[in-house]
Amino acid sequence: MPLSEIDLTRRFDFAVALARQAGAVAMHHFRKGGDLRTVEKGPQDLVTIADHEVDCLIRHSIAEHYPDDGILTEESGGMIAARTWVVDPIDGTGNFARGIASFAISIAFSVGGTTEIGIVYDPVADEMFTARRGHGAFCNGAPMHVSATQDIRRAAVEAGYSRKAPLADYLALLDRLLDAGCEFMQFGSAARGLAQVASGRIDAYVEAHLFAWDVLAGLLLVEEAGGRTTGFPLIGDGQYGLAVFASTPGIETPLRAIVDAQRKTRQP
Ligand code: IPD
Ligand code: CA
Repeated sequence: MPLSEIDLTRRFDFAVALARQAGAVAMHHFRKGGDLRTVEKGPQDLVTIADHEVDCLIRHSIAEHYPDDGILTEESGGMIAARTWVVDPIDGTGNFARGIASFAISIAFSVGGTTEIGIVYDPVADEMFTARRGHGAFCNGAPMHVSATQDIRRAAVEAGYSRKAPLADYLALLDRLLDAGCEFMQFGSAARGLAQVASGRIDAYVEAHLFAWDVLAGLLLVEEAGGRTTGFPLIGDGQYGLAVFASTPGIETPLRAIVDAQRKTRQP
């Protein structure tokens, strides 16, 4: 059965409350420090006790309130269904594990592959970034808009990196960005970075390989705040990770050229 407006509003309110609860659990561990670092999933890919606890809280709460919805999370995996919650319990775990206050809880709700709800909660700043498709984007209830930047030479671009993508490509991208006059940034949380684009504090976020749980919520924030993205289909390649592009409209064309030029250099 298709979801009504009321169904979506209920899920939105539920997701906001859940993100706040999840943030409180993450902050409890973050303030304690010390025992945060647990397992290395891969090179420079950490997971902490807090990731698992937050993951567990979110999964159980969704299963209890919406037993017919699918759930896909970074730490537990899952299935993409007609209606799916896509969750990163802590995005920016590398920062979190080192006691650096740049991480976020990311909760998205997707219907038929389209993200309808996107919540990114930064519990350190107590900033709740929210969006519902067609209803705008907000930070702590105040409307958000992407920046008015028109000149790439005045733009601040966050370019994320992980070992899932070739290093040479990343270095070439940085070279192009800096050569074009951009300010380059890297804060280590794609979800939080996308929220910063939506809020207009920075002008764009790009990364060569991210998973749906990292970005679905943040991409909806950017779109609803008036920004441009290349989207993220949950079907096909989207399940295995994709490149992400999100920017304010004023620098979309030159920034796409910078990112695409790099891709072209990789063609045989
Ligand atoms: C990572 C962060 C980082 C991005 C990586 C992601 P995690 O997620 O979003 O900013 O550059 O590609 O894997 O591991 O902290 O949840
Ligand atoms: Ca992540």
